[in-house]
Amino acid sequence: MCGIVGYIGSKNCIPVILGGLKRLEYRGYDSAGVGVLLNGVSKIVKNKGKVSLLEKKLEADKIESTIGIGHTRWATHGEPNEINAHPHANQDGTLFLIHNGIIENYQTLKKQLRHEGYTFRSDTDSEVIIHLIESFMKKGNAFQKSVRLALSEVDGTYGLAIINSKEPDRIIAARKGSPLVIGVGEKENYIASDVSALIAHTKNIVYVEDGEIVEVYADKFVAKTILDEDIEKDVIEVSMTLEEIDKGGHPTFMIKEIMEQHESVFNSMRGRLIMDEGTAKLGGLDTVVDRLAASKRIVISACGTSWHAALVGEYMFEQFLRIPTEVEYASEFRYRNPIIQPDDTIIFISQSGETADTLAALREAKRKRALCLGVCNVVGSSVARESDAGVYIHAGPEIGVASTKAFTGQLVVLALITLLVARKRDLSLADGKKIVEEFNSIPDKIRKILELNDQIERIANDFKNAKNFLYLGRGYNFPVALEGALKLKEISYIHAEGYPAAEMKHGPIALVDENMPVVFIAPKDSTYDKIISNIEEIRARKGKIIAIANENDSEIDRLADYTVKIPETIRMLMPILTVIPLQLLAYHVAVKKGLNVDQPRNLAKSVTVE
Ligand code: F6R
Repeated sequence: MCGIVGYIGSKNCIPVILGGLKRLEYRGYDSAGVGVLLNGVSKIVKNKGKVSLLEKKLEADKIESTIGIGHTRWATHGEPNEINAHPHANQDGTLFLIHNGIIENYQTLKKQLRHEGYTFRSDTDSEVIIHLIESFMKKGNAFQKSVRLALSEVDGTYGLAIINSKEPDRIIAARKGSPLVIGVGEKENYIASDVSALIAHTKNIVYVEDGEIVEVYADKFVAKTILDEDIEKDVIEVSMTLEEIDKGGHPTFMIKEIMEQHESVFNSMRGRLIMDEGTAKLGGLDTVVDRLAASKRIVISACGTSWHAALVGEYMFEQFLRIPTEVEYASEFRYRNPIIQPDDTIIFISQSGETADTLAALREAKRKRALCLGVCNVVGSSVARESDAGVYIHAGPEIGVASTKAFTGQLVVLALITLLVARKRDLSLADGKKIVEEFNSIPDKIRKILELNDQIERIANDFKNAKNFLYLGRGYNFPVALEGALKLKEISYIHAEGYPAAEMKHGPIALVDENMPVVFIAPKDSTYDKIISNIEEIRARKGKIIAIANENDSEIDRLADYTVKIPETIRMLMPILTVIPLQLLAYHVAVKKGLNVDQPRNLAKSVTVE
């Protein structure tokens, strides 16, 4: 949940670290800090708030150094303030640590270290690590060995880096459960939580795995396991570009990511549809597709927005594959000793591929020998690497904390998996071809919906002061209602609830009066007549109705206060279209309230703690 960056080489490390931290702010932004080594002297500069405030402080200090580490924090233990900001130092300020993760046994270790005479400055769990390292060094162990010994006493997760003013030729970095990469340059090397922080400097990346510890020098790196065994690491050239992670002329990442969905969705399906055979081709599933098609049960596990995509997947699989499908919150799944049989397939959906709960659920399912598939956006992420097989969504880097284009990409991939497996089972060639044809029309339909941006902005203006919102949908569009409500609450801080439209009568309708905006997702499908009745029920109670309907629907104009008309498609693909007006609505409400949509309060893009 925090971002870490480090540099060692011949350049001034400060701009490198600040640039990297800004790219990683999606991981946390409540405080930030850097630690550098200057000719045997060490210095930490940190503050509460964003990296831009740290930048100002550093400008005033005019620090330059060729080795340093930096951190942007999302608080878990200890409130967001300067003292709790990283780096944390040992007693005499010769060792600095940055840490992403949670140390579960920190209270025990803290007690033990206090007993040994160590004093603690912060309320964080992280600080125990640096004192523990010092305590091993004081007992005569070398720097690297002390890090190793300290980490073997720690329970929990970490992606961390340490520098030592007495050995300023290296950064020591280690990983267990929190992401960590090394960037390899020309006589300079980097460490970071993810590739986006380094892409301005190098595309040559080493993915550090759990249980590995790496000494990073300016001209080499030495990787070992935590048990001190030598390991060879491959340097991989990544394809991400700087343009992909810039705002491209838009005021925020979120609107950029919403507005590029015709392209990102196209990229998710590009080269994966075979019209002649009415099917999909997903190279990542080649070796497992028969086992998937023969599954007795499918479970889809995920968190947040990815969980909403999973719910849409359940509708797809049950309609077309006729395989019983269940959707599980990853956080619940792993802790209730789930019943998993070897002929089950478990699909893990994660934009980042680093969500701690999803990763833990994947590991649990692998232990129980189910076929484990990953649907991820971030190439080389932990879920992607640890799954038996999988499919990338290829939506491009998603930087805005609220997930938008990753969601539509996930829906595309789930629909492609459905098509591929349904054709292996009993879907006819003719029906397969119809689906392929519809798929091909989706990017243009998205483009048309994006042209409704101004209209949706006007609707947002009328509701920016609302205190509550209801989102209602049926069938495939029930998960879209959940997603619309989540988008609104996370960026505008307006309370919103998503419900299956018919369930509204069983409770939430009590909330409806003339101040309640109710968003209906009401495309012309088999549930249309029923949803019209639900709209009537809300109208009778004077709720304000915003309807997402199809272009050819004139009946709805009579009932709704506002209508957003979108193109038609088949039921399975409809959520890819219906969610876009809801993303835009949430976006404009939040902007009109003057809020930071890219970095909403209390949230982080990648939840790498449980
Ligand atoms: C909401 C949002 C989160 C994520 C969730 C899972 O906009 O972004 O709810 O969807 O934290 O993240 P991933 O997909 O990276 O596992």
